[in-house]
Amino acid sequence: MAANVALDALLHEHRRFPPPPELSASANAQPEIYDEAAKDHLAFWEQMAERLDWAERWDHVLDWELPYAKWFVGGKLNAAVNCVDRHVAAGRGDMVAFHWVADAEHDRRDVTYADLHREVCKAANALTELGIQAGDRVAIYMPMIPETVVAMLACARIGAPHTVVFCGFSAEALRGRILDCNCRAVITVDGQFRRGSPAPVKPTVDDAVAACPDVRHVLVVRRTGDEVNWQDGRDHWWHDAVDPQPEEHEAQAFDAEHPLYIMYTSGTTAKPKGILHTTGGYLTHVSATHHYIFDLQPETDVYWCAADIGWVTGHSYIVYGPLANGATSLMYEGTPHPGDKDRWWKLIEEHKVTILYTAPTTIRTFMKWGAQELQRYDLSSLRVLGSVGEPINPEAWIWYHTYVGGGKAPVVDTWWQTETGGILITPLPGITEAKPGAAMRPFPGISADVVDDEGKPVPNGSGGFLVITQPWPGMLRGIWGDDQRYRHTYWSRFDGVYFAGDGAKKDEDGDLWLLGRVDDVMNVSGHRISTAEIEHALVGHPSVAEAAVVGATDAITGQAIVAFVTVRGHVADDDAGGERFVEDLRNHVATAIGPIAKPRQIMITPELPKTRSGKIMRRLLRDIAENRELGDVTTLLDPTITDMIRERMADRAEEHEG
Ligand code: PRX
Repeated sequence: MAANVALDALLHEHRRFPPPPELSASANAQPEIYDEAAKDHLAFWEQMAERLDWAERWDHVLDWELPYAKWFVGGKLNAAVNCVDRHVAAGRGDMVAFHWVADAEHDRRDVTYADLHREVCKAANALTELGIQAGDRVAIYMPMIPETVVAMLACARIGAPHTVVFCGFSAEALRGRILDCNCRAVITVDGQFRRGSPAPVKPTVDDAVAACPDVRHVLVVRRTGDEVNWQDGRDHWWHDAVDPQPEEHEAQAFDAEHPLYIMYTSGTTAKPKGILHTTGGYLTHVSATHHYIFDLQPETDVYWCAADIGWVTGHSYIVYGPLANGATSLMYEGTPHPGDKDRWWKLIEEHKVTILYTAPTTIRTFMKWGAQELQRYDLSSLRVLGSVGEPINPEAWIWYHTYVGGGKAPVVDTWWQTETGGILITPLPGITEAKPGAAMRPFPGISADVVDDEGKPVPNGSGGFLVITQPWPGMLRGIWGDDQRYRHTYWSRFDGVYFAGDGAKKDEDGDLWLLGRVDDVMNVSGHRISTAEIEHALVGHPSVAEAAVVGATDAITGQAIVAFVTVRGHVADDDAGGERFVEDLRNHVATAIGPIAKPRQIMITPELPKTRSGKIMRRLLRDIAENRELGDVTTLLDPTITDMIRERMADRAEEHEG
């Protein structure tokens, strides 16, 4: 109780949190870093690139022909060599790269850099034997197990760009991604463990690749031991294909601009975008940001990024950044759930985790479960805390700092996107006086601003749109196969600058606060989901006529998906109102996209609110979903619709309570 009172007091003070003095003195980033980078940002990034091993040095740092950047032009390197071989060569082969902990409590494995080297070489040899060549795309559909990292690095080693698809996506979503970038092979598992129980994975891949004629090979890691269907010639067990291979593999150096991976993310249309990242600039960016923002001390830190490798956070801050820096990480297969509320804290105590990187939605879940869940554990090893994925509300920030960080560990609120490759806006833990809820300022070498509707920078104390005003090394190099969309989405809204799609505010001191998306992209538990994608899935159901989807504010998940649906004439009124019908629609969305896209609520309504020109007014639907006073309704074709939807929602709520 006393703790909660103190917390409330803090909330109302608009407190600043200075960096802990003991960290300031020794941190990787010292205050001069900002001035040095500002003086010559290309020289700064060049210095950052020198932290990597290059087979051939670049001729010059940047070729910039808006909107196309080439970084470290003429340079050659191998990403896997930088993440693995060079640490082994430096005598650090016995260092643990990953303390891997399974969902089931008893199952764990330590993977050293030497182990990683051996396994990556063997997997690279196996892929080569299967005929995979530099430039071929390989899909990876796997849970949080060490083989997923090995698979990614093996692809990188032979120059085959990977596209990792989050293992919760449906067969349809996986197929769409495989076809979009025309993958030659898929690496997967027989099944995965979820909250202690095995769940099949291979059948989803079988279903997906049935319609992908160019997929010649499916490589399957045995994880659960469950029976799977097998297609001879196409399917290969990982242990048969990889284990007998030679433990050495001579890695070729690739051009700095050689494609490293494609990561699909949601945009404002129903079709996900394949974001392309290349090698030299990306690796420079993620390793430098990881080093400074988390103040990584590779000999002593135990770093834990609790994201999933299926998203960009996992790519940049579980795999490429930490491994390039020779970090020791904790890798955990499971996710927090009510049956195991203290598992995270046990893991932190046991592994003496020093750096934790997670999402606000997870912090709010822990807040809901209460501080007593963690107060029985010794979390004093934690010295830096990171947040990513969505704006962090000050209450969650302060709770994180107070209870998880023991009131000492600085919180770094890191803003970035799949497209940016790495963190762009963030405090630095030994330097920045943090404000709860603010991402504060651009990382050294990055230039960002907040502009108004016409692209003019807003003064301090005002809000607008976040833009990035100079190219940066980790930036996307395009959208796979859709140049037009690349130009249109990011480079057409404002002249000469990158439009991020986020609203932001500069406070009186000029510090940056991120305010969320300004387009039709939702952020649900830190996952980016497009309203158009869900609408598309819903209208694909034979009984649905029209659908409109909005993101409504939610105390735990940030936003929640609320869908408004009109049904076709053949659906009887009783059926349309029924729980079974709504559940059928929710499952339909899960089949089309994946369970993460299931709407929290689906309202069946006779009409959708439209303007006279027939445009659905999502703004009003959002007001309704959030139970707010409606904004301007004068442009509605039929102003009575909104009242009708409201009444129906109220009736449904009553039925639920009843
Ligand atoms: O709206 C911003 C939000 O997440 C979006 C990017 O999502 P995604 O590409 O899936 O990458 C997530 C992990 C980097 C952004 O456009 N976002 C991410 N981090 C923050 C954030 N919003 C506010 N504060 C953040 N720290």
